[in-house]
Amino acid sequence: MSSKKTILYQGKAKKIIKGPDRHTLIQFFKDDATAFNKKKHKLFKGKGVLNNLISAFIMTYLKSKKVPSHFVKRINDREQLIRKCEIIPIEFVTRNVVAGSIAKKLGLKEGTKLKKPLLEYYYKEDKLDDPMISRDHVVAFGWATASEIKKIDKMSLEINRYLKMLFIKKGIVLIDFKIEFGRLASNPKKIVLADEISPDSCRLWDKKSNQKLDKDVFRRNLGSLMKAYEEVASRLGIMH
Ligand SMILES: Nc1ncnc2c1ncn2[C@@H]1O[C@H](COP(=O)(O)OP(=O)(O)OP(=O)(O)O)[C@@H](O)[C@H]1O
Ligand SMILES: [Mg+2]
Repeated sequence: MSSKKTILYQGKAKKIIKGPDRHTLIQFFKDDATAFNKKKHKLFKGKGVLNNLISAFIMTYLKSKKVPSHFVKRINDREQLIRKCEIIPIEFVTRNVVAGSIAKKLGLKEGTKLKKPLLEYYYKEDKLDDPMISRDHVVAFGWATASEIKKIDKMSLEINRYLKMLFIKKGIVLIDFKIEFGRLASNPKKIVLADEISPDSCRLWDKKSNQKLDKDVFRRNLGSLMKAYEEVASRLGIMH
């Protein structure tokens, strides 16, 4: 099978491979970690395997909560079968606690709790460093309709609620996360959660120590990234 694989897209952390039929794709998780728009890049042996496991686990958990996603099943260590989408070119960020770019931009202290979850939109365009945009930009430029954005906001807040619950039971605080949504190729009216949810795309802090268990370990050289990701997998009970 591997000799016949058609790579449709080489991303920074994943590849998209032609699926078994026209409405599906295979998402392959690589070991690459990148930060600061590829200015920093490193391989972590086994990271793709962990992210595949963690993302599959989270998508399955969200499915049990009736959150529709592109996820069909995990095929092997590195690959998932997913439903093909037309990806909306926006990174949807939900924040519970101040960290990362928002701390820098607004001069706020990392770790400050927000009064309510904050939804942000970033235009997915590496050449422009994924600029922050408003809800109005999304609609005015036709990246999504007002009704799609309304659905997505609602889904993002639901996902936030479920993920916060999932992680806090494991002693982990969900600080923020970035997700993507798409229109199903088989039914473009249907908006689903796509891409991945993993320590690459979430900020996860140990509840007791505030120790970072996510990609900030790599961004900020805070120690072993693999140990952090293994800790997340092990707390979720999915280490093999
Ligand atoms: N269900 C899906 N159907 C089609 N494309 C998808 C689906 N889920 C995720 N993708 C896309 O597949 C790619 C996954 O690769 P990766 O995340 O490594 O890309 P990337 O380098 O981050 O680039 P991008 O800026 O496009 O996200 C992304 O472009 C993502 O938007
Ligand atoms: Mg990506």
